Order: sequence, then structure tokens, then C-alpha cells
Amino acid sequence: MKIFSKFSLFVLLCSIFLLTACGPSEPTTGEAKELDEDKVTLRVVTDAAYTPFEYLEGDGIKGFDIDFVRAVAEEAGYNVKIEHVSWDPLFEEIENKDADLAVSAITINEDRKQTYDFSVAYFLSTNKILVLKDSDIKSGEDLEGKVVAVQNGTTAKETVEAILGKNNQDIRKFENNNLAIQALLNGKADAVVADNTVLEEYVKKNPEKDLMVITDKSFAEEHYGFMFPKGSGLKEKMDKAIDDLFDNGSFTEIYQQWFGTKPDIEYLKELQNE
Ligand code: ARG
Repeated sequence: MKIFSKFSLFVLLCSIFLLTACGPSEPTTGEAKELDEDKVTLRVVTDAAYTPFEYLEGDGIKGFDIDFVRAVAEEAGYNVKIEHVSWDPLFEEIENKDADLAVSAITINEDRKQTYDFSVAYFLSTNKILVLKDSDIKSGEDLEGKVVAVQNGTTAKETVEAILGKNNQDIRKFENNNLAIQALLNGKADAVVADNTVLEEYVKKNPEKDLMVITDKSFAEEHYGFMFPKGSGLKEKMDKAIDDLFDNGSFTEIYQQWFGTKPDIEYLKELQNE
């Protein structure tokens, strides 16, 4: 009897353990399909407020970056769990090695390279200016004396600082780019500076808002990469997987689905020799 009850207790404890370990867990944001249990799951962080690269829809994260990082991880033999942590925390997560990588339309630059590692470049971008159609702002120089909204901690902030001066109070810094656009729409700013694709997409999707995008040729060309903790062994594997997707047509397919045009793979590959 005693043995039996010990045994039953054992069985009971085992089933509790199994239930908690294998029971249905909370649905994870951005989880598109069942995880393959044989594979390591990478924790990927993003700021999902940058349509069409990453944005929240329903209870999931969508966007070009999301489809792309999933495809790259699959090619490299990993599962991914993608989490929206917003912009500033994303850098802390990677610096503290709490996440394996960040994907978030992140520009590769010398400053960031001091603290983080980057994959090869996968997307070409430049900052542009969003204004109301009747604005007298026609170039970067015209931003002087105007109130300019940017997402804090971005290359857009640096671009505007280079024109208006670092501590200029007319630079309004927001936690995410959607808030910067709201400031323009509410009359609290005269312009938004952000990545061209994001601004162009916003204008296209909101024709009734009478906005337009201005190109200033002096704004630098930028390249997006995945961002890893410094010294991460993942970089090499993900770079190889990115190249494989460049070569086997998968990258072009995902790119065309989101942007309707073909990527300049030859140029992206040339950048790898720099
Ligand atoms: N490319 C710019 C940068 O790296 C802006 C990126 C913002 N991305 C985002 N998901 N909010 O600074």
C-alpha cells in the first residue's frame, strides 16, 4: 500500500510536470507556425512600429523584415520567436545578450558597430522628409527654423541634428515613428524625417492626408542589417543563409511580395566586399 501511494504520488507529480512543460503555452506574438522541437529557437527582438518592415496587426507581428528573418533562420536551421520590445530596449537586449538578434530596419553604421555586430546588408535605404503638400519645405536646408519630428535614437535624428544642431529644441524626439507622424498630422511638427520606404508607404496608404515625401540628395545612402551581440557566433551562419536566399531566388520573392519590385542583389553583394 505504502509503495503504491508513493508510486501514485510519483505518477501524479510526473503528470503535473508534463502538463506544465508541454501544455499549451501563451500564444507568442509573431509566431506563425509550430516550432520544430529539434531546432534551437532564436529570440528575435524588433520595434514593430515601422510599416512595411515590422508592424503589429491583430496579435501578430508582420512585415518584410519578419518574413525575411523567418526565411533566413529557417535556412540556417533555427526556429525564431519574434518579440516586439520597441526601439530603445532592442539595443539594450542585444547589448546584454538577452536576445539573439534584432531585426528592425536597422542601419549598419560605424557608431553601432562599436557595440554590436551586423549581418551583411539586405536592404538599401535613405532618410527622406515627410511634409504636408502645401509646405514650403523643399529640402533638408529648409528644415532650419522648423519643428522636425523624428524617432529618437535613429539615423533620422542624427540627420536632422546635422542640420539643426544637436541640442536644438525644435527637434522633437519620439519613442516610435508613428508618434512622429502623428505630431505632423496634429500640427505639432512641420516635418518628419525617417526612412524613405516607410514614409512613401504611409503617403500611399493615406492619400486623404495630403502628405508628400521630399528627397534631399545630401542625405546618405544607408544599409539595413540584422544586429547581433558583439562576438555572436550566429553572424556567420546567418550571413551564409542570407547569401543562399540571395542566390536561390527566395529573397527576390519575399522582396517582390512586399515592394512589387526586384531587389538589386548584385549591388547588395558588392557591398560585402567593402
Ligand atoms: N534605419 C533607421 C535606423 O537604423 C531607423 C530604423 C527604425 N526602425 C524601427 N523599426 N523603428 O536608425
